[in-house]
Amino acid sequence: MKTSILAENLKGSAIIKLAGEVNALKAKGEQIYNLTIGDFDSTIFPIPQELKQEIVNAYESDVTNYPAGNGEASLRKSVSEFLSKILKLNYKENEILISGGARPLIYAVYQAVLDIDDTVLYPVPSWNNDAYTYLARNKEIVIETLPENKFMPTAEDIAPHIQNVNLIAVCSPLNPTGTTFDKEALEQICDLIVTENQRRNSLGIKPLYLLYDQIYWQLTYGETVHYNPVSLNPEMRDYTIFIDGISKAFAATGVRVGWAFGPDFIIDKMKDMLGHIGAWAPKPEQVATGKYLELNEKVSDYLTQIKSELSFRLDEFYKGFNKLKNQGFPVDVIEPEAALYLTVKFDLVGKKTESGDVLNSIAEVTNYLLKDAKVALVPFSAFGASKDSNWFRLSVGTTKREDIEIIISQLKNSLEKLN
Ligand SMILES: Cc1ncc(COP(=O)(O)O)c(C=O)c1O
Repeated sequence: MKTSILAENLKGSAIIKLAGEVNALKAKGEQIYNLTIGDFDSTIFPIPQELKQEIVNAYESDVTNYPAGNGEASLRKSVSEFLSKILKLNYKENEILISGGARPLIYAVYQAVLDIDDTVLYPVPSWNNDAYTYLARNKEIVIETLPENKFMPTAEDIAPHIQNVNLIAVCSPLNPTGTTFDKEALEQICDLIVTENQRRNSLGIKPLYLLYDQIYWQLTYGETVHYNPVSLNPEMRDYTIFIDGISKAFAATGVRVGWAFGPDFIIDKMKDMLGHIGAWAPKPEQVATGKYLELNEKVSDYLTQIKSELSFRLDEFYKGFNKLKNQGFPVDVIEPEAALYLTVKFDLVGKKTESGDVLNSIAEVTNYLLKDAKVALVPFSAFGASKDSNWFRLSVGTTKREDIEIIISQLKNSLEKLN
């Protein structure tokens, strides 16, 4: 062993492994519909024109030295105003931390509030909590959520563990499912945390914190409303650290600007930790994002446009899967509420292919859909769900409108061949 035990045992991303297989097939000239990535094709979903222009302007004005440790003051001011205007959340500039996207911030939350022997509770399927818990060398309690709850965790799931955990990490809208917390469900979780913290306060022990990842919050569709713990229960303000940024709402995954906000004493420690890592967002992008967020009308127009494009695709796939289901194929789908994801089910383990091979596992089902239907999807096991979960994430960030019908028809064709 040549590196640390931590490095040796760090698991690679299952999604990236799948992407490798997709790329190998593409290299052989195959036309693959790759619905695996939680990213956008920037030729279909470019970043806002004004944001792009402000980035160019910032470089042309030589705004190229170190940014402030907690983020450029102009951007933190814009974020503060943006949060107060749209979400009615009041966070001052010193309660906001900017970083190179959301990831370093999540990493920093774990490092800032948890000790090595502390325990994190997170639901699965969910994105990357396993990796952050592993890197922080924490213990974990993992809750497998249910399709009947739209794969969102409930207070009932959490209650038995509440006295034994130090951080609860949740995300809404959720990657991989594209579903959200209902008001009552989130209220009940907040009640549990507040009550538990009254107990801890009376004993003088460290509180139970909530990491609330709302990076997809602006991408909600139809009647869906995004709720957050602090608006629902102001007592949650002392215990909640929000994760947010421009990566998803503005299709700006490569621009790398994210922000966290929460109690100033935690934000301050996160700043110190990330300062050593140097995980700042590039200064020109920070200055540009600050200016862009002030363009209320442009921001609102961009969001209307991207939401309409994403929800069109999600709805078309939703209808397509429902049609297959009604035709008797062993598939299912959960109504899309947000983000760029659709939750679909392929109940195909045990089915026989045309060549007589039996699909023995979810890995073989995934592979069959890839090789036969030319459609790449990510099984929920890649998001920590059990190996035999037959649910998958379908991402529409790289899908052209005209591809949807073809994809559904190729899936149908492959399903017809099974018995
Ligand atoms: C739930 C969630 N949080 C955070 C991130 C990371 O965002 P960023 O690209 O800004 O680091 C992702 C990326 O896929 C995500 O799905």
